[in-house]
Amino acid sequence: MVDRPRVFVARRIPEAGLASIRDTCEALVWEDELPPSRADLLAGVAGRDGILTLLTDRVDSELLDVAGPRLRVVSNYAVGYDNVDVAACTARGVAVGNTPGALTETTADFAFALLMAAGRRLPEGDRFVRTGGWRTWGPLLLLGADIHGATLGIVGFGRIGQAVARRASGFGMTVLYHNRTPVPEETERALGVTRVDLDELLAHSDFVSLHVNLTAETRGLIDAARLRSMRPTAILVNTARGPVVDQRALYEALRDGVIAGAALDVTDPEPIAPDDPLLSLDQCLVVPHIASATHATRGRMAEMAAANLIAGVRGERLPTPVNPGVR
Ligand code: DGY
Repeated sequence: MVDRPRVFVARRIPEAGLASIRDTCEALVWEDELPPSRADLLAGVAGRDGILTLLTDRVDSELLDVAGPRLRVVSNYAVGYDNVDVAACTARGVAVGNTPGALTETTADFAFALLMAAGRRLPEGDRFVRTGGWRTWGPLLLLGADIHGATLGIVGFGRIGQAVARRASGFGMTVLYHNRTPVPEETERALGVTRVDLDELLAHSDFVSLHVNLTAETRGLIDAARLRSMRPTAILVNTARGPVVDQRALYEALRDGVIAGAALDVTDPEPIAPDDPLLSLDQCLVVPHIASATHATRGRMAEMAAANLIAGVRGERLPTPVNPGVR
């Protein structure tokens, strides 16, 4: 009997993907709710043909060395892959895959939900009711910001940024975007968006939504100076990666009224410490990195990650490769 490929799956993912991995491979699945420790991760990957990782698992030269020469593929269960040293994988001929497209609309839905929740102060209203604060209808009670007619600045105008712009047009928002490269003019026209530089975007937006990958250039992109250049009424929404925002500077900006609010799906680190000062601020909404968390989308991500893993261990081209030059 031919040996089946040996793979390590760094967390239980939806059956939509896990079943096909188990059908094809000899799979060791990390069953805990929490990620494997570094030592457990290294032990898990040793001698494997393929590994399926999550954004909580750092894939670097050390891990690739421990995995050894049989390793052919790292399939990341996410569209973002800042946890993977792609250059180190490429140098060893290891293919890397991700899950682009699967979560675009779901993440855009969620970014918009955060924008609206922060703008209209939903978490504060809910807390107010639950803690017995609601005594009457009040003309000045929990006043927020209008969404319709406001200006939305989208930083990073790839698939998800554009999907957020489509939602904004339904609310009659003016949409500015900032991206290294302009999108085609037809796309700008169809979406009714205007490309501006980052300073202009920050100065003119009522809501700023972040959709950039985490890279050396975007780490700390929203720092104290950039927060100061925003409107005092502005709300910052982050569904990208926590380190894109200088979190200490954000806390100070919110505390001092430099900007009005923030809604964060991602923090630095994750999870955010329960005693992080940001959590003491009513005008800061924080949720646990769940923008892609719907049944359907997590299932599609599992199918895509499984397809990449299986193609990789077979030496085939990955359906959604990050480093397509590898095969
Ligand atoms: C991703 O895919 O990069 C998200 O952050 C998790 O779904």
